[in-house]
Amino acid sequence: MRVAICPGSFDPVTLGHIDIISRACRIFDKVIVAVPTNPDKHFSFTVEERMEMLRLVTQGLNVEVDCVKGLLADYVREKHATTIIKGLRALSDFEYEFQMALTNKKLNPEVETMFLPTSGEYMFLSSSMVKQVAGFGGDISHFVPECLVQRIRERLSKERNGKA
Ligand code: PNS
Repeated sequence: MRVAICPGSFDPVTLGHIDIISRACRIFDKVIVAVPTNPDKHFSFTVEERMEMLRLVTQGLNVEVDCVKGLLADYVREKHATTIIKGLRALSDFEYEFQMALTNKKLNPEVETMFLPTSGEYMFLSSSMVKQVAGFGGDISHFVPECLVQRIRERLSKERNGKA
């Protein structure tokens, strides 16, 4: 069975992420969407909330949602996966992603990183942009799945008003 890991913060998951995950599902038997439990960064949603949203929007796909406690390279080995899947939007993503791919390769020489180019319509999309628009009460329905719109708007408007 060919297993791929699709890691990311997913704070929150966007239609761009879902595009990458569902395309990876057509190439691999199983895709593990992995959220790191990285305590040093500020996130708008907890790891549990992000995992719950990911489970909701990947229903029906050959996806398992999990969290990564340590290094991704070790997690890949533990899960007997072959590949890390990352979406690439623009040239600006490349340097950071290339650095991560080479680091992971050094840490676990058996792992391959595969980049999928983002579909044209999601080229501009990022979780931070979604959060910015939602924080100002803007329309995010073109950026995230319908079932998450309200939840994201509520959290971000609370954050903006200092209540979260
Ligand atoms: O969505 P993001 O924030 O770009 O995802 C970054 C992610 C999750 C891929 C990266 O932070 C990661 O792999 N974290 C796990 C810890 C680790 O292995 N760090 C070294 C990677 S080079």
